[in-house]
Amino acid sequence: MCGIVGYLGQKEALPIIVDGLKYLEYRGYDSAGVAVLHNGRISVVKAVGKINDLEQELKKVRLPGSLGIGHTRWATHGRPSLGNSHPHATADGRIVLVHNGIIENYNVLKMQLQAEGCVFQSETDTEVLAQLIGKYYTDDLAGAVLSALRDVTGTYAIAVLAKDRPEQLVVAKKASPLCLGLGKNEVFVGSDAIAFIKHTNKVVYLKDGEVATLTPQTLDIRDMQGKKVSGKVHKLALDHSSIEKGEYPHYMLKEIYEQPRAVQDTLDGRISPQGDEVIFTELEKYSEYLIGINKIVIAACGTSWHAGLIAEYLLEKHARVPVEVDYAAEFRYRYPVLDARTLVVTISQSGETADTIAAIGEAQALGAKVLSIVNVPSSTIARNSDMVIYTYAGREIGVASTKAFTTQLAVLCLLTVYLGRLRCSMTEDYARNMLQNLKCVPNEISKIFKEVENIQKIARAFHKHSNALYLGRGVGFPIALEGALKLKEISYIHAEGYPAAEMKHGPIALIDENMPTVVLAFKGRRYEKILGNIMEVKARKGQLIAIASESNEDIARVADAVIRIPDATESISAILAVLPLQLLAYYVAVEKGCPVDQPRNLAKSVTVE
Ligand code: F6R
Repeated sequence: MCGIVGYLGQKEALPIIVDGLKYLEYRGYDSAGVAVLHNGRISVVKAVGKINDLEQELKKVRLPGSLGIGHTRWATHGRPSLGNSHPHATADGRIVLVHNGIIENYNVLKMQLQAEGCVFQSETDTEVLAQLIGKYYTDDLAGAVLSALRDVTGTYAIAVLAKDRPEQLVVAKKASPLCLGLGKNEVFVGSDAIAFIKHTNKVVYLKDGEVATLTPQTLDIRDMQGKKVSGKVHKLALDHSSIEKGEYPHYMLKEIYEQPRAVQDTLDGRISPQGDEVIFTELEKYSEYLIGINKIVIAACGTSWHAGLIAEYLLEKHARVPVEVDYAAEFRYRYPVLDARTLVVTISQSGETADTIAAIGEAQALGAKVLSIVNVPSSTIARNSDMVIYTYAGREIGVASTKAFTTQLAVLCLLTVYLGRLRCSMTEDYARNMLQNLKCVPNEISKIFKEVENIQKIARAFHKHSNALYLGRGVGFPIALEGALKLKEISYIHAEGYPAAEMKHGPIALIDENMPTVVLAFKGRRYEKILGNIMEVKARKGQLIAIASESNEDIARVADAVIRIPDATESISAILAVLPLQLLAYYVAVEKGCPVDQPRNLAKSVTVE
């Protein structure tokens, strides 16, 4: 959360910084600001709101200069206001910085600095860091940053300017992401390489505890002891066109439509030519370990946690391994019982979620091995895990996760077959059957798009409600949770997901003609029971929207509206059924005029605990 950018080179810094900030807006959009150094003077411009608001402010001034930094904020300490927006500066304006993270001991430091005569302008933890660097700074900027960071506890990615250092940009990182882009006689800084990928694909990921001094031609990286370390240069393959919206009005819609391709890319090369084995070369060296595990614990957050809940059904039913699923933040602090025979699986789109990163550390400290399912290559979670399986969803920019989820489910289906075969708990025929069904998913997803007009019609009535209930059984239950989360996030309609049978134990009290209920009613072992739950809703005048398989004829007699998905097994139906729920949430949000890609208070990557 919060995005930082920086530029030092031969070109005008401002357009590059503002453009970079637009790509990082998914990390927060409460306020934004830039600082540019020119002729020994640092000019700062800020605005409350989005980058568009900052651009309006920038129209009123001219900020020449080829060294600058920028920030887009997701508020933690201090409300979104001009005073709390970054960049922050020392009282004399000599040092200016942007920061992503939290300075946990800022109160103590602030009191010390105030006692020494520092006057603070904002309520933020970041200003403390600026003042602290200012206190240590004489003529060695990197040295002053190092000294200040030694006093600090917490997390940070920072970019720092000093007004008497026109050829230097100093950056540092601990627990918040930061990467450097190396161009010809120019250097870029970003919380994410997406901020500068159109200028260079040569990227250095700074490690925790490193401080780097950048000039247009040189890169000097030090550890916290001031010892020189080398940075590995990665060549990123990120195609710039993949981060544009193209013909779509929102990233979320583009990403929903990308799902057939994303799932296909995730499956490609991972099913044997005979169709009965899963190829995970990335797990080969751990096969003995995986044969010997006696339990799997899955830890994740949000949508990725929902994928974990589905994995619990899949792995227990088909691979016969005991599974527990935890919110990463709860797992970390609840003294979990793990040992060397526990496999901890973490799931994350961004690979940067702070709670999930912490869960990995906890699991490894307790002797377990960690297998992570991640979408972003080289992310912190990918780097910290023992084993990694990538989803190939491609860059997900819309704040509400869509294609990451379906690709996670595809990987989890593959993992089920992989472990089932490896541990001899699944026959060859069973595996072939599951994989055959999985191979059909991209095509089956494409068929669901013909339901769009129907979904738009339903959304036109749905958007007037302020509450909704989502019900499902078995794998349909986590899908109900995911459907409710999508609706809440982008349309601000309160929605709850429930296991359909649990409804009678409380939520049924809410049902009346003003409370639409969305039911996952795909055929399977629990179908008759779901029909019973549907009748209970109808008996209480509830409006019922069913997600049902194509061949299900009886559902139309009881539901007020039906959205069809192709006939499939229960596990595959779960993957297919999330598509209509994503589209429903999308069109409800559009009807309500909500900012779909940037819902209020949210950020794409939750890098604070
Ligand atoms: C919901 C959503 C969030 C994320 C959660 C975990 O649409 O996007 O709930 O799923 O913040 O993020 P990752 O998967 O990046 O760890």
